[in-house]
Amino acid sequence: RGERCLMSNLSSVLACEAARGPLHAAAAAAVAALAGAATSIAGLIRHQGDAAGLGAVRGTENADGDTQKALDVMADDIIASALGKVDAVASYLSEEQDAAIPLHAGGSVIVASDPLDGSSNIDTNVSIGTIFSVLPAAGGVLQPGRNQIAAGFFVYGPQTTLLVSFGGPVIALQLGENGQFHDMGWQVRIPDVTSEFAINASNQRHWHKDVAAYIGDCLAGKDGPRGRNFNMRWVGSLVADGWRIFRRGGIFLYPADRREGYGAGRLRLVYEANPVAFLVEAAGGKAIDGAVPILDLAPADLHARVPLVFGSAKEVDEFAAYGS
Ligand code: AHG
Ligand code: MN
Ligand code: MN
Repeated sequence: RGERCLMSNLSSVLACEAARGPLHAAAAAAVAALAGAATSIAGLIRHQGDAAGLGAVRGTENADGDTQKALDVMADDIIASALGKVDAVASYLSEEQDAAIPLHAGGSVIVASDPLDGSSNIDTNVSIGTIFSVLPAAGGVLQPGRNQIAAGFFVYGPQTTLLVSFGGPVIALQLGENGQFHDMGWQVRIPDVTSEFAINASNQRHWHKDVAAYIGDCLAGKDGPRGRNFNMRWVGSLVADGWRIFRRGGIFLYPADRREGYGAGRLRLVYEANPVAFLVEAAGGKAIDGAVPILDLAPADLHARVPLVFGSAKEVDEFAAYGS
């Protein structure tokens, strides 16, 4: 790493990572396969956008009890088949599969993925994406996010993009006409301070006291205890709300609430919160479950949910103080 590492496109980033040792080479091979899969998924979305197709309900529920859409299943198939061609990948963990899919007995890494994030936005022409986490196979299926070798997410939006980190800086890349992901040329750094929050406000009546008090104070704006006005943005795709926060700061909250089944929020630790938290910390932000850093949590289950609050470091601290 360092001077001689070209970061101008994904191939050069991966070549550089691969040179760091066998585990990194394995992670780089996995990310290369994921980039190929994401390119296919982006193509599907671009060319086959009729609502009855990709957004059609499949009539089945995934491992987490969510209704599957056609594109959820297609994206999962594309990723499973891409990873199946990489000898270094021992197994594939997916939101759309009950249990880990074993791939290569001698593989040194595990890939966990939310193949299609933002399912409710599929047929609305709003950004959706693919989230992934690469872990050492030696650690087994359930390991804290701190162990991740690499993590990232693709966004299928006005641009097809990738945010990725191998533990070093977060790199923002965009898929070009030539089929290559090239560096977008901005430094991915989440500003410490923000005046923009993202939460599904329709759940307000179900919120616990700390969340209600924090959002109430944000909404009180200049006249309230925060002494400044806040703006709200909620896309409803974690990848899109996340991308915005990496670009210009912000705080995202999907807290636990009083609804049945939301005692630990909605988002999943292994393939949503962990990869996002890995990127957030690498970009100077914070990601917590309300109190504890997401990356320090040990998943109890492959599909375990976790309350997720992440973004600008000072604002995440500000929120955490409401709970103490
Ligand atoms: P998925 O499409 O993988 O199930 O994830 C959807 C997630 C996430 O993208 C978003 O932040 C959140 O669900 C939205 O949930 P609500 O519809 O409850 O707001
Ligand atoms: Mn998701
Ligand atoms: Mn999903």
